[in-house]
Amino acid sequence: MPIRVAVLVSGTGSLLQALLDAHGDGRLEAEVVVVGADNPSAQGLERAAAAGVPTFVHPFSKGGDRAAWDAELTRLVAEHDVELVVLAGFMKLVGPVFLARFGGRTINTHPALLPSFPGMHGPRDALEHGVKITGTTVFEVDAGVDTGRILAQEAVRVLPDDTVDSLHERIKVAERALLVHTVNELARQGDS
Ligand code: GRF
Repeated sequence: MPIRVAVLVSGTGSLLQALLDAHGDGRLEAEVVVVGADNPSAQGLERAAAAGVPTFVHPFSKGGDRAAWDAELTRLVAEHDVELVVLAGFMKLVGPVFLARFGGRTINTHPALLPSFPGMHGPRDALEHGVKITGTTVFEVDAGVDTGRILAQEAVRVLPDDTVDSLHERIKVAERALLVHTVNELARQGDS
């Protein structure tokens, strides 16, 4: 039985697409049963709809009640009875209520080799620092910013003429494959 997965997105959703494609090709031992976004114009919502996956939108307005937002996000995800939550380019921090319910089974990806270059600008910070190798990390979400237990990493070489965008695009290719691989590993562990 494939495990039931919720995916949360904020933007383009190419990581989500990698999971949907892997499922379509029989390469994923998991099924995306719901996609949630904090941003109503997230392209990931269209990708989910095209794949026939139910969606929800749960925006957070500046100055809003963060605890109430977190509790409602938890409820919206919990409704779908999921075993794993994937933050796939989700640009909000989940809060304590969410972690009490889904901690230990919520994963995120980061476009750098943590603990180097955490935060919003992993590819830019790696490029500015002048590292020759960076990469991507899949980790377990905890209450910090990109601080959770590391589950998998893949290195990506920085090329001499890289821009932030060219580097990030190459990292994202590795990131998609690593995410599919890690979800499969977790699904197998859940089975045993
Ligand atoms: C990924 O590089 C992810 O690590 C970062 O944002 C990007 C999301 O890409 N947080 P997409 O929206 O899945 O295309």
